[in-house]
Amino acid sequence: MPFVRNAWYVASFARDLGDSPLAATILGDEVVLWRGADGQPRALENLCPHRFLPLSKGRVRGDNLQCGYHGLTFDGGGGCVGAPTQDAPPAKCAVRAYPVAERMGLVWIWMGDASRADESEIYDLPEYHQDDWAVAHGDALDVTANYLLLCDNLCDPTHVNYVHPSTLGNPDEINAPVTHRETSWGVLTERLTSDSAPTGFIRAVNNDDSRVDMWQRYLMYAPSTSIIDFGGAGAGTGGFEGGGERRVQIFSCHFMTPVTEDRTIDRWLHVRDFDIGDDGAGERISEQFRIAFAEDKEILEAIQQQEDRHSGRGKIGLDLDASAGLFRRRIDRMIRTEARTAAAA
Ligand code: FES
Ligand SMILES: [Fe+2]
Repeated sequence: MPFVRNAWYVASFARDLGDSPLAATILGDEVVLWRGADGQPRALENLCPHRFLPLSKGRVRGDNLQCGYHGLTFDGGGGCVGAPTQDAPPAKCAVRAYPVAERMGLVWIWMGDASRADESEIYDLPEYHQDDWAVAHGDALDVTANYLLLCDNLCDPTHVNYVHPSTLGNPDEINAPVTHRETSWGVLTERLTSDSAPTGFIRAVNNDDSRVDMWQRYLMYAPSTSIIDFGGAGAGTGGFEGGGERRVQIFSCHFMTPVTEDRTIDRWLHVRDFDIGDDGAGERISEQFRIAFAEDKEILEAIQQQEDRHSGRGKIGLDLDASAGLFRRRIDRMIRTEARTAAAA
């Protein structure tokens, strides 16, 4: 299935992009990213038009990127600005450039029609920037599975009791009802669990075993950003509405970048409203997420393998699939719209 192209995807953590060229495969395209002397990220197709050496084998020169074979030099717009071995570069010496921008400690890349790239459409979580919230950047989780399998998982609060029993699952195995609805940006799936023993995660944060009301709000933004707003407060103290005793809230953010049809990089981070300024706490929480996300990875890779083995075979449906189904239909519509627009052009 084709990808949604006219969208911003995460190409890298900002921390991983320095003044050495960085190769990446995104939606099957081979790109090279670098940060110029001015600190700005840039991205080109990773191919020198001369002998096809990947430009990632070259070096950064000021704001530009120089091929490592004969020194053709390209600016961030893909134009050739230097051919050291001759007086002037040949006509038509250019490389495809991709719009890039930085937001939330991430480098974003626009993979579609460059004339439609609008930085104001890049996802941004307001709390990420607020002083009374703390941020911890996590890892780049490499999953050998199609990104839509990850999206299915991130439209589905019910799986946590079975996949993440020690961290995010509810120890009472309460199966509270799940609601979902389509929004202007994707699909929101919500589950409110009243008067439960705390999950391992919330017990560790509060160092307290007493009963809690917990919420999971899964915000799945098309095409591939997932924000999980979850937390808990003392049972019956009004935690769902924003107050509540011992209330803690976390935004667990996943930015999924399809590498190819069957491989996805999930870069994750979290934003929380407790233990502000305590990087050690941030790292301890990330460690809990690392355990949980490794559990998801194992499940999704196993599913991808079986899907490949049993391609065409029908599956049964469950009520819990409704949310993921809504999201997949939306992705289908986006892909069809892009194809129609491209055909018209
Ligand atoms: S291969 Fe790039 S300059 Fe020759
Ligand atoms: Fe999970």
